Amino acid sequence: MTGVIVIRHPLIRHNLTRLRDRRTPPQEFRRLLAEVAGLMVYEATRSLRVRRCEVETPLERTVGCELEREVLLVPVLRAGLGMLDGILRLIPHARVGFLGLRREESTLEAAFYHESLPAGLERFEVLVMDPMLATGGSALKALDRLTQAGARRLRMIHLVAAPEGIRAVRSRYPRVPVFTAAIDRGLNERGFILPGLGDAGDRLFGT
Ligand code: PRP
Repeated sequence: MTGVIVIRHPLIRHNLTRLRDRRTPPQEFRRLLAEVAGLMVYEATRSLRVRRCEVETPLERTVGCELEREVLLVPVLRAGLGMLDGILRLIPHARVGFLGLRREESTLEAAFYHESLPAGLERFEVLVMDPMLATGGSALKALDRLTQAGARRLRMIHLVAAPEGIRAVRSRYPRVPVFTAAIDRGLNERGFILPGLGDAGDRLFGT
């Protein structure tokens, strides 16, 4: 599956509206973001491949299925952390890697400050999560690093995406599906998504 997929489930749309609300306090913002991320990953993993396997029930042997590949979750720090717990609730056996990227305020250029990834990324289905896709600079840096490290099967999961960021990712990585709960109008002069929900990292952590 490729392309941009807007997941328009009623529960996601309801919670996204509450996440956009400036009056939503950090503890509520955290809970809502985790919930939305869990609902989104259900759709974002719909096309994961499974293979046949056998299983012994308490009564007899039968045929079932299991995921063909291991799943690696990669939250982009900091804000991606807000999606991790909700997604782990659905895929508790997933491995977790981390990429720390900070957008410099004046240039909007993203720079790495942390990396922790398992070896052998070729064997994983990799789900990269970050609530915001703004200019796309952070997403491109993350995708560049992951493909350089061997990742072949990648999916991006965002809460809110700007058309600018979508274009950037689609033009360099046309085969990577981008899942989002909304495509917003665009960016302001400071690179903030409009109408957006503010700075997700700041709203999650209050700093
Ligand atoms: C924000 C956001 C994304 C990035 C999006 O992170 O969480 O990672 O900016 O912008 P881009 O598409 O223009 O790169 P920020 O750098 O503010 O770090 P934080 O998550 O620690 O708040």
